[in-house]
Amino acid sequence: MNQEAIGIFDSGLGGLSAVREIIKTLPHENIIYFGDTGRVPYGSKSRETISKYAVQDARFLKNMGVKFIVAACGTVSSVAPDLTDELGVPYTGVVYPTCFSAINATKNGKIGVIGTSATIASHSYKKRIQAKHPEFEIYEQDCPLFVPLVENGMTDPDDEIVRLIVKRYLQKFKDAGVDTVILGCTHYPLLKRAIGQEVGEDVILIDSGKETALYTAKVLEEKGLLNDSKKQGNARFYVSDTPADFEKFAGIFLKRNISELVTQINIEEY
Ligand code: DGL
Repeated sequence: MNQEAIGIFDSGLGGLSAVREIIKTLPHENIIYFGDTGRVPYGSKSRETISKYAVQDARFLKNMGVKFIVAACGTVSSVAPDLTDELGVPYTGVVYPTCFSAINATKNGKIGVIGTSATIASHSYKKRIQAKHPEFEIYEQDCPLFVPLVENGMTDPDDEIVRLIVKRYLQKFKDAGVDTVILGCTHYPLLKRAIGQEVGEDVILIDSGKETALYTAKVLEEKGLLNDSKKQGNARFYVSDTPADFEKFAGIFLKRNISELVTQINIEEY
């Protein structure tokens, strides 16, 4: 029972940080992933455009018959309206589970948040944390060059360009003495080693993709939606531009060859 897939979407490769964790935590679940590679990045676009894209992405997944939808995208989760009513399918974004984990992790109440420009302008993480803990100090920084780095496979922490860009964005967290940093865009866990090297190994990095995957597992269990098959689940991937680069970089990140599993669709039809 409940063999319908979990639907996960993002603007590109970032949501794979949630996919990887769901495969690990819920190995029997089937997954349908949509990466909007033809329209990435979302984080520099207007609220109206991001909301329109989010609705189309979610409609595509709903059309595929999924039982649960994950907006594995910090930008959509921060800026687009809650899609639960629109969809009639249970749904989660990344902000709630990520903030919950950061609140539990911090010892000194100083938390850094990095995200796309749209996410940081919305103050979504800051507002949610300070609604519970107004005394916490939240330091925010947008990192518009991180998504292009990831989408072009430039994530090696020893790459000089990666190091310089990471340093430029994160220096202020070191000065502020944060003990926890929220990777508030799901692309950023792919730069985790470079970010960790810059902020220092004592600083806890909260991975929005991973936290959302763990939360998804909890919600599916509570709702009685877990797949009770004992077979390894399958994953299928859809993109809105040519599959070649996605296949290559996603394959490296997921440590499996996915080239037979990626299909291009026209997202404007949804
Ligand atoms: N991975 C996305 C996020 O979590 C989107 C980044 C983008 O497309 O700008 O914000």
